[in-house]
Amino acid sequence: MAKPKRRYVCAACGGVSNRWQGQCADCSEWNTLSEEAPQTVFSAKHDLSSGGRPILFTPLDKPGESLKRRATGIAEFDRALGGGLVPGSAVLMGGDPGIGKSTLLLQVSANIAQSGAMAVYISGEEAAGQVRLRAERLGLSQAPIQLAAATSVRDILTTLRMMDPPAFVVIDSIQTMHSDQIEGAPGTVSQVRGCAFELIRYAKESGTTLILVGHVTKDGSIAGPRVLEHMVDVVMSFEGERSHQYRILRSLKNRFGPVDEIGVFAMEGDGLTEVSNPSMLFLSGRDEPMAGSAVFPAMEGTRPVLVEIQALIVRLQSGATPRRAVVGWDSGRMAMLLAVLEARCGLSFSSAEVYLNVAGGYRLSDPAADLAVAAALVSALGDKPLPSDATWFGEVSLAGEIRAVAHGSIRQRESAKLGFTRAFGPANGPAAEKGVRFTPLGMLPNLVDRILSDA
Ligand code: TYD
Ligand code: MG
Repeated sequence: MAKPKRRYVCAACGGVSNRWQGQCADCSEWNTLSEEAPQTVFSAKHDLSSGGRPILFTPLDKPGESLKRRATGIAEFDRALGGGLVPGSAVLMGGDPGIGKSTLLLQVSANIAQSGAMAVYISGEEAAGQVRLRAERLGLSQAPIQLAAATSVRDILTTLRMMDPPAFVVIDSIQTMHSDQIEGAPGTVSQVRGCAFELIRYAKESGTTLILVGHVTKDGSIAGPRVLEHMVDVVMSFEGERSHQYRILRSLKNRFGPVDEIGVFAMEGDGLTEVSNPSMLFLSGRDEPMAGSAVFPAMEGTRPVLVEIQALIVRLQSGATPRRAVVGWDSGRMAMLLAVLEARCGLSFSSAEVYLNVAGGYRLSDPAADLAVAAALVSALGDKPLPSDATWFGEVSLAGEIRAVAHGSIRQRESAKLGFTRAFGPANGPAAEKGVRFTPLGMLPNLVDRILSDA
């Protein structure tokens, strides 16, 4: 029999190579390739069409078991999951170190345990004493969570199979787990994949909801192979700037619900608190109207969130290449908007440095932000503050048209709720909502005239 071929797998992207290399040919990460245990090579002689056990079919139109979800009592967490925990499902939660994954999951476990169901929290990173200290700090030391510090998947599964299946099991984190059946150190691709596979199988068989915590690499993907994302039912990411208070729980994949819902939390001295009105959080600290600041009613799934966009323009004396920096938005999109403002509105940014920031460390992905960014840029360029009671939304095309965007009414209603009584948007946009004066702007030059002429 031919010797099985060696395979090297990249821990960042899952790319496969036949020889070891310092840099992955697929994703260009360094030192991420490691050897994977040899696999059986199937030959044509293997016949897979007999010798198996029959599988059961059920007609789709026959009513099956309906999905029963369990609310955790933390509404923002349930919302991001699409309405609570699904029994027998596996959830992967990624996030930067120190962002608050362990804190959140300990709080969720405590809530479940206090409601009378069994919650198991297994930490591979911290000793049980450390987790207990954290629980004390969170005021949860009385919660009947089953706590353990362990890293051997064999030990964990043996123990879990000896008891009644818990409602909720947290593995913090999957990269610290190891199986004695698999070669390699914890955290390598084959270990992570193998351990996750066994744990997920247990969840499916027992009806337990399994949460796997996963570390995140520099570029934001969950470390370890991408395959982990295919194995689980739900992929969530816990995001935020460590220097800021707020955290967003976002679902990136959900086999049981929508993926665009978010949960918003604030990190306080006694753990994470739910933020049911995120607009307040992102707009806090705004006082005097300043040139270069525009308020944008963004949509996160079905939920509006008001955020402040800030622009700063610095004229350069010398002929040095001007800098452009963007935090919280797409820099390519800003370059495009600057080009449209130059080509269609006759403005010049060529000898100026341009900085754009989304306040609160928030990251915008909503295309309707174009108009608010343009308003902030023009306001900064002309040193004219925008009206303090106005919000801006709409997409800008290369021709300089302001295009209609989805959810115009919801955006206006949220603005009105927070005291913004004027909204500027696309000409063929939504009708004015109660309590809001809506001004349609057809083309970008309309916006520029309006800002630069009056104030
Ligand atoms: P942690 O949950 O350990 O993060 P992760 O598991 O994602 O690595 O969060 C640790 C950070 O949270 C730490 O820097 C301190 C902060 N924190 C608070 O601000 N308040 C608290 O009540 C707790 C428990 C942590
Ligand atoms: Mg942790």
